[in-house]
Amino acid sequence: MKKAKRIAKVPPYLFAQIDKKREEMKARGVDIINLGIGDPDLPTPAHITSALHQAIDNPRSFGYPPYEGTFAFREAVAFWYHKRFLVDLDPNSEVMALIGSKEGIAHLFFALLDPGDVALIPDPAYPVYQVATILAGGKPHLMPLLEKNGFLPDLKKIPVSVARKAKLMFINYPNNPTGATCEADFLEEAVAFCRKYDILLCSDLAYSEIAFEGYKPLSVLEIPGAKDVAIEFHSLSKTYNCTGYRLGMVVGNREAIAALSIIKTNVDSGAYMALQMAGVAALTGPQGHLKEINGIYQRRRNIMVDGLRDLGYKLLSPKASFYIWPQVPKGYTSAKFVSELLEKTGVLVVPGSGYGKYGEGYFRISITTPEERLREAIGRLARVQI
Ligand SMILES: Cc1ncc(COP(=O)(O)O)c(C=O)c1O
Repeated sequence: MKKAKRIAKVPPYLFAQIDKKREEMKARGVDIINLGIGDPDLPTPAHITSALHQAIDNPRSFGYPPYEGTFAFREAVAFWYHKRFLVDLDPNSEVMALIGSKEGIAHLFFALLDPGDVALIPDPAYPVYQVATILAGGKPHLMPLLEKNGFLPDLKKIPVSVARKAKLMFINYPNNPTGATCEADFLEEAVAFCRKYDILLCSDLAYSEIAFEGYKPLSVLEIPGAKDVAIEFHSLSKTYNCTGYRLGMVVGNREAIAALSIIKTNVDSGAYMALQMAGVAALTGPQGHLKEINGIYQRRRNIMVDGLRDLGYKLLSPKASFYIWPQVPKGYTSAKFVSELLEKTGVLVVPGSGYGKYGEGYFRISITTPEERLREAIGRLARVQI
């Protein structure tokens, strides 16, 4: 078969490879503790699942949905953004439904980039930003996220010649995979930078509701004037424990949303209407479960952070997200460490290098696993000499 050249440029999706190895070990009878993928183990709140049950029986739910999402869903997104961030959005032009934020993020690159165009991409990062740049024929310019800079990109290090050519920049705080957070001063700097060089600033806020000790992550749209240059991707996946629903949204700059809509109307037909009805229940209903799940994640974070530090691992304790990003022990690459750890202990974590070259030297732990399994993981780590 003669395949497109672009396919050869794309590495296999990180978690597909890890799943394969896990299945092999499981078949050998190994009890795997999976601290790999960030997929909430806690249930979707009952009022949302019951809204979904009702919506499935609703005769208005079975047909093709409106391309941009139902008006009720877009209005619910605007309601939630106002309540949570005091950001006002026009549901008609500044909100669009997505089939999960991954879909919208990947398609955006096709709406913005011509072959050879530059996208400013953080590294390490959610792999979709870089892969979608390549699929769209663009050139990623990597912005290293270094521990010494709090895992924030140093915008001053971007050469002016690159900034002039760049069409978009991605940022993601609370961050996957580092668990880092940012404050208003960074968002202001990013908005000013993108305004100066006429770059679309794309914020990925998938983890905004998973935060500890009262910390409240910010939306880029809280920065005055941000809508002129920015859009934000968000998702119901992590906030409402419903990754499988595939429901997300993009909000902000209307011109960028209209451009993305041209791609989307031609390649997909929108999110199932029953899910959008459940999404309305999620966004406009009680948010009390967040206190509960954040309490659970916080206890899990403490078990892992304290346990790993006691074992001599070096790491920062995240204020938000459900990821921990420790350094691999001296003498190991990320891949070698992760593979030995899995073989010797059955504990599955993700090599930092899977998130980009600046992720080398780290590994990622997801705390979407019950406390007793996390304690067991620490116990197994303690028993082996790495
Ligand atoms: C940083 C980041 N953005 C976006 C997504 C996609 O989430 P979804 O497509 O479920 O909305 C993920 C999923 O893990 C993520 O980690």
